[in-house]
Amino acid sequence: MPSDRLQVEKSAIQNHLPDFAEHVENGLSASPKKLSPMYLYDEQGSLLFEQICELPEYYLTRTEHAILQNYSDEVAAFSNGNMALVELGSGSSTKTRLIIEALIAHQSDLHYIPVDISETILVNSAKELLQDYPDLKISAHAAEYHAAIRTISKLELEQKMIIFLGSNIGNFEPDAAKNFLCKVRTWLSDGDFFLLSTDLEKERSVLEPAYDDAQGVTAAFNMNLLKRMNEELDANFDLSTFSHYAFYNEKLGRVESHLRSHIEQSVYFGRLNRTFHFKKAETIHTENSYKFTNSKIKELCEATGFRLVKQWQDERTYFSVNLLATA
Ligand code: AVJ
Repeated sequence: MPSDRLQVEKSAIQNHLPDFAEHVENGLSASPKKLSPMYLYDEQGSLLFEQICELPEYYLTRTEHAILQNYSDEVAAFSNGNMALVELGSGSSTKTRLIIEALIAHQSDLHYIPVDISETILVNSAKELLQDYPDLKISAHAAEYHAAIRTISKLELEQKMIIFLGSNIGNFEPDAAKNFLCKVRTWLSDGDFFLLSTDLEKERSVLEPAYDDAQGVTAAFNMNLLKRMNEELDANFDLSTFSHYAFYNEKLGRVESHLRSHIEQSVYFGRLNRTFHFKKAETIHTENSYKFTNSKIKELCEATGFRLVKQWQDERTYFSVNLLATA
């Protein structure tokens, strides 16, 4: 492995994740009870998420992949010849390969800068990419987005495209999404781009099975949070008394995921030395997956100093990939 093509940087303030114990204590004291989706992704959760992406009901990954397959060349055409590619939350970089290939074809080599919290995933996928693409150079950043971008903004890049795929923006509350875009906006110079993918609003009959599949993989993904609390916080959740519950909240344009207690009960947390009570049918709200419309996307751009340069969708208009530039 030519190591001169791979650089790995760990941000000093690498882990901004608040302590799990503290987070759980706050979230279960709140009313309604809630937990952040970022805690779904421990090792087991990350494996389950990869399985979700392959499910017949989970159209998101497949549709985004198809869009990028069709239009990566059009994305790459926005390069002036020496554009660096920055990916936020790169994970295993599978879909990114399409953009990487298109950019290499367009400009003959590429500087790819993936950012992810997990150093293991980052380094493993970087090594695979370097093996497959001899004209690729990688600067990997194991960091939380804000910390990584601070470092990256010091790199002298002639032109850059920041990409945020997978409809990951859907996990942000509307205000947080705006704040995040404003931040990204400040990292961009004239001629730079932000590629943002968003899932779109559609029939309940398509949305709900995508978040509650027949094989129960999504249920296991959500229930894994209870297992984590049992293992890491010495809680005594009886998993058979809870179930995964997902529904489309049409008014708020989001699919909500919850863990619902079938019975009235108390759960004791050894690590917190504290008991939490659940009423019958009470839920812990674990995730929101926001769905967009074209007008919501435009509104988000306008509120954050961006303009929508181009938009690509699939034939069914299930999903969109949006190219933004500074207004
Ligand atoms: C990775 C946040 C885009 O909301 O669709 C999949 C996570 N949760 N199934 C989504 C998820 C349940 C996913 N995102």
